[in-house]
Amino acid sequence: MSNRSCDKTASFTEKDIPDLTGYVVIVTGGNSGIGLQTAQQLALRNARVCIASRSEQRVRQAIDQMRKSNPGQRLDLRFLELDLQDLASVKATAKAFALLEEKLDILVHNAGVMATPYQLTKDGYERQWQVNYLSPFLMTYYLLPLLLRAAAQSGRQDRARVVNVSSDMAFALGPKKILWDDVNMTKTKGMLELQKRYSHSKQAAIRSAKELNDRYSSQGVTAYSVHPGIIKSNLQQANGTFIGKVSQLSVALLAKTTPLEGSYNTLFCATSSEAPKFQGSYFEPVGKRSPKAETWLNEKDDNARLWNYSEA
Ligand SMILES: NC(=O)c1ccc[n+]([C@@H]2O[C@H](COP(=O)([O-])OP(=O)(O)OC[C@H]3O[C@@H](n4cnc5c(N)ncnc54)[C@H](OP(=O)(O)O)[C@@H]3O)[C@@H](O)[C@H]2O)c1
Repeated sequence: MSNRSCDKTASFTEKDIPDLTGYVVIVTGGNSGIGLQTAQQLALRNARVCIASRSEQRVRQAIDQMRKSNPGQRLDLRFLELDLQDLASVKATAKAFALLEEKLDILVHNAGVMATPYQLTKDGYERQWQVNYLSPFLMTYYLLPLLLRAAAQSGRQDRARVVNVSSDMAFALGPKKILWDDVNMTKTKGMLELQKRYSHSKQAAIRSAKELNDRYSSQGVTAYSVHPGIIKSNLQQANGTFIGKVSQLSVALLAKTTPLEGSYNTLFCATSSEAPKFQGSYFEPVGKRSPKAETWLNEKDDNARLWNYSEA
């Protein structure tokens, strides 16, 4: 793959999104922050957008907000129940979606939690590992037949896309490899242990997009991972530790990016004609293929192992 970046598209904004009439989209965590903006912009371009969330009430409020902000626009926005802390819920979501829709054009894994206190889900996984990586993997896995159908029906190699919203934090604090013997990172202790688990889960999101792309791009399903930028959102409210509060304060002071701007990198990967030229890659805002993830993207055996582990 070429090393050049997509610099000429660095100014990608909502105005650059093509018409998406006939597209069926899922945005996880589309009830707040970056996900809300992502869902709104895709719907404004005529896609049918299913907002997957654990709270119908929060989704209804978000949809009301989007409709009020866009009077006179017909926005096709729907609620899809999903709790990423529960693998059974993920399976049920995919099953319910497949009863409603015959295909899926764009799947945006935006939902996430950051630096949450150590807690095992009922499936036995550390919460960040499951919410940020394992459940999104499983959701993609179950929805693959619908993504493949969207690709086949369109007859295009660039139609069906999966975008994993990762983070530059993946490179900042976490391990450089997947910790196969301890994915819950129980042995990681210290002041930054919660942040390190976040980084680890976001590393997996980057590797997973690459592996998905390697396996399915020949059948028309391409995949991408992105850093959205630094955005003040509910994400920083998740924990009450000292470090958590420092991080919240720093983001409040430093964040110059709005949630709308934070959606641009995802929207670029999900809809632009440029992104597929760099499929499988990790993107910095906006639409710039980042060299940071190059080692991970090239570790084919590790990425295949992650897929096999997750599948099992
Ligand atoms: N903000 C930043 O500076 C930044 C930087 C790098 C990466 N990111 C990434 O960007 C993505 C969006 O974050 P954001 O900043 O927009 O934060 P946010 O406003 O807190 O959005 C996170 C979304 O994830 C959902 N979610 C959390 N746990 C869930 C679960 N168990 N099941 C289903 N949905 C769940 C939340 O739903 P509820 O409303 O139900 O909690 C919310 O809709 C995340 O993946 C984050 O890691 C953000």
